[in-house]
Amino acid sequence: MEKELVNKILELKKKKKAVILAHNYQRPEIYEVADFIGDSLELSMKAKETKAKIIVFCGVDFMAEAAKILNPKKKVLLPDPEAKCPMAAMVNIERLRDLKKKHPGARVVCYINTTAETKAESDIVCTSMNAANIVDSLEGEVIFIPDQHLGEWVEEKTGKKLILWPGFCIVHDSVLLEEVEAMNKEHPEAEVISHPESPIDILRISDCVCGTGGMIKYASSSKKKEFIIVTEEGMCNRLRREIPGKKFYPAAGMCQNMKRITLEKVYESLKDEKYEVKIPKEIEGRAREALGKMLEFR
Ligand code: 13P
Ligand code: SF4
Repeated sequence: MEKELVNKILELKKKKKAVILAHNYQRPEIYEVADFIGDSLELSMKAKETKAKIIVFCGVDFMAEAAKILNPKKKVLLPDPEAKCPMAAMVNIERLRDLKKKHPGARVVCYINTTAETKAESDIVCTSMNAANIVDSLEGEVIFIPDQHLGEWVEEKTGKKLILWPGFCIVHDSVLLEEVEAMNKEHPEAEVISHPESPIDILRISDCVCGTGGMIKYASSSKKKEFIIVTEEGMCNRLRREIPGKKFYPAAGMCQNMKRITLEKVYESLKDEKYEVKIPKEIEGRAREALGKMLEFR
């Protein structure tokens, strides 16, 4: 049944000259229909270079929006319009404008997990992979939105004091240091790899802190055979698929929003060309500028 649906999607994809991009946290069956699986930065870069007419984005709202902003002439589809990242919804635009007024001259660095409207109010976008380098390159005050854990980690890496926003990811924020330590006791040979959306006390005891793409690279090249993965539990499926000889233990729970995307919804989305991502004209250009600055950043 699942195989049948996979084949139907692959056929339709070919016929419609579409490309399917999937985030690492997607369900394993979504990997089977994806042309590319990656982290936020990798997916943005793929979206920018694709020649396909239609992009089906298997991820959450802000990722599909980023693909649309970078490809305004293409049709970008999000198979479930309710697949929304709660962290992206934690920025109130009026409060952000007030904060900017209080700190005139401060540069606003916004995490990619934000709405198009928030990106339009920002100077430059970042992902967990490049956040520290981007902040390091800026002179003067920096307002960093919305993830306070990533912000604190960037502060430690760069030695700069940032103006932080009280945002967080519900999945990473609820992991406790004691839980990770208990898992490490159970698997004393394991290395701890953590996403920087996790609390700072966990990041401090981790062997590696990186985005989801970095986790694959680190676990592949490490001499160790076992890893405690402090990020959304689906990442372990992705790691097991890429590195079958090693063991991965998930320390965080599931992102319900990411898991809203199913094979059935991908099929329906491609068949009926729904749900199309639309960005209001008045914010599209400014959001593209902020995203473009990130992609140009080396
Ligand atoms: P990555 O950019 O590391 O893939 O992370 C995206 C995300 O939503 C983490 O919760
Ligand atoms: Fe948003 Fe957290 Fe889900 Fe990532 S894991 S999409 S930050 S809610």
